[in-house]
Amino acid sequence: MFGNCSLLAKMTVVIAVILLFFFSIGAYLNYRRESEQGLSNAVEKARILALEAIRAREYLSDHYERGNVVLSAHRFGLIPVVASGRIGQQVAGDMGYRLSQVSGRFRNPNNAPDDFEKDFLKQLNNVPDQEELYALTSLDGKSVLRYLRPFRAKLSCLQCHGVPDQAPDFIHAAYPLATDQAYHYRIGELIGAASIIIPMEQVRAGILQALRADISQRIGIFAVLVLALSLLTRKVVVTPLRRLTEAIGEIIRTGQFRSQVPDGGKDEIGSLIATFNDMVARLREQTESLEESERRFRILTESARDAIISFLGNGQIILFNRQAERIFDFAKSDLLGMPVDRLVHEDCGVLRSQGVEAFLREHADQALAGLHRIVGRRRDGSPIFLEVSLSMAESDGRIFYLAILRPQSPSPSKAEP
Ligand code: HEC
Repeated sequence: MFGNCSLLAKMTVVIAVILLFFFSIGAYLNYRRESEQGLSNAVEKARILALEAIRAREYLSDHYERGNVVLSAHRFGLIPVVASGRIGQQVAGDMGYRLSQVSGRFRNPNNAPDDFEKDFLKQLNNVPDQEELYALTSLDGKSVLRYLRPFRAKLSCLQCHGVPDQAPDFIHAAYPLATDQAYHYRIGELIGAASIIIPMEQVRAGILQALRADISQRIGIFAVLVLALSLLTRKVVVTPLRRLTEAIGEIIRTGQFRSQVPDGGKDEIGSLIATFNDMVARLREQTESLEESERRFRILTESARDAIISFLGNGQIILFNRQAERIFDFAKSDLLGMPVDRLVHEDCGVLRSQGVEAFLREHADQALAGLHRIVGRRRDGSPIFLEVSLSMAESDGRIFYLAILRPQSPSPSKAEP
């Protein structure tokens, strides 16, 4: 099917397919890059939030120690881990994110991990030097980034998470050993993690919007390129070729070398057209001179006083001049292509019985020498006595004879074969 399409259609399809291929790859890579960028931006935000919370906790506990600040049940909100967690939660809330401090052995049931966090905590527990874990996932049907940064027990943590008896009284009182599971940690052990959830819907919408803008821009460029290339092809290739075809068609139709194609510039097609024009011009000159010589020949034969008949070796008449028409009372159009035997009268002896073709084959020398008398046959069948001079020639490898005939007064007895 493709083979039957026009050159322009083929080129347009090929160009379009190639462009589409590269454009799609470009759009896809762009989308991937945007997505990766969106993800790494979100991870960066989560990291900042987690580090803020951790730094705040460390800062507070450091300064409490230096300033001998004594914590109590009344100052529960100032416990470094509680304060940093709450501040972090507020900041996260301002940004539309969620931050929580979770632990597998939680002290506060609000800090219980969900299934996702449980899984991540397990992974963090297994790999002691893992600094963070994150994944794109969905929560309540919405796309989110989930990020966990581990809290590992330091010496300072063991104050309230180590041996229960050594914990401050208010801690001890609030979280008795019997019900609390957040004691007995050892240094380096995973106590829990800062868990951050960043909604990705907006990011995703942004990426999709960028993708749409990118695609429509690419489609625009694609359309302009395809259009420009097909217009160029039409102008440079298709139209000149069509003109050339029309010119050749016209030559075939009219048999005349008149058509010329407008100049096609200096490229390959241009030189094809120039060569074609040259060829046509030369052929025109040749046919004109041929026509001229033919015309001269016709005038010569037509105006001759004698009847002139030319026929091929097989007897087929190829020339029959006006004087011959007059003598035989035949129209030229009736005789051209007919056997010359038609013009031989029944009274013409051997020539008649043998036929002109066979006769000439056998008695060529005799026939070609001198003048002969024969009896011709006119259209109405009546005889006419003629003196004939025959000559033979060859053209294009074919023999043809030229007979010059002159009417004689009737003397049938003298007629040769
Ligand atoms: C002054 C006592 C104290 C110290 C010191 C302390 N914590 Fe806690 N920690 C608590 C209390 C009290 C809670 C419960 C907070 C709440 O109810 O939200 C808690 C909760 C947590 C939680 C949340 C999970 C849970 O059990 O509810 C994590 C994680 C945690 N602490 C880690 C640490 C780490 C790590 C350190 C050391 C850097 C540390 N804590 C130091 C008192 C302390």
